[in-house]
Amino acid sequence: MNMTPQRWDNTNTYLREVFGKQDSVLGGLMPAAIAAGIPAIAVSADVGRLLHLLVQLACARPGATGRVIELGTLAGYSGIWIARALPPGGKLITIEPEPKHADFAQRMFAAAGVADRVEIRRTTGIAALHDLARELGPQSVDAVFLDAIKTEYPEYFRLAHPLIGRGGLLLADNVLGSGNWWIDEAAPGEARESRDAADRFNRMVADDPDFEAAAVPIREGVLIARRR
Ligand SMILES: C[S@@+](CC[C@H](N)C(=O)[O-])C[C@H]1O[C@@H](n2cnc3c(N)ncnc32)[C@H](O)[C@@H]1O
Repeated sequence: MNMTPQRWDNTNTYLREVFGKQDSVLGGLMPAAIAAGIPAIAVSADVGRLLHLLVQLACARPGATGRVIELGTLAGYSGIWIARALPPGGKLITIEPEPKHADFAQRMFAAAGVADRVEIRRTTGIAALHDLARELGPQSVDAVFLDAIKTEYPEYFRLAHPLIGRGGLLLADNVLGSGNWWIDEAAPGEARESRDAADRFNRMVADDPDFEAAAVPIREGVLIARRR
């Protein structure tokens, strides 16, 4: 079957229609964020549900801590999907250096009724991972979701690797593309750097003997890797 551009669009529409059902808090979140001047770069609803399902699985395994890290909060859309998957007593630590985004997300976490289990850290992904390694120690989290600066993905992986417990998950959005690049080609400059970093990251995770990895071509590509 040829994957024409039309069929790709139709497939994404179908996936959102069938697997992207969401409540009014999630449905209204990004329109309100965009009206407030926040960019429309959240994951789609079908990716949100995939994250939700994977976090449920990671947190259900024996020895789970109920702790999840997200790099790149934006308006809190993916964070709410993740927070709603946590077991009782679980916690999402989500990282966002842009004050406008963090303030908006804080209000959305309250509106969604998950503020008690979400901590926003207003710092960069790399600084946060250094801090969390010191604070929490090795193999202390059930899942890490990467969705911040694409050129930093290889460094995020290096820093997140020791934090993830056995059977825990590394998840990453945009491993096949983003607004201005796709994995099979990229415009010059920044787009090329993002594409090359995503390619490096994918190969690093795929070749790492500590992880079993796959990527699914849903929306802009989601990597799923389980620590052995
Ligand atoms: C693609 S958006 C995240 C979308 C969000 N995960 C969602 O799907 O709802 C990327 C976010 O990363 C934030 N960001 C920018 N620089 C960062 C950095 N160095 N570390 C962590 N996050 C950063 C941006 O401000 C933006 O809010």
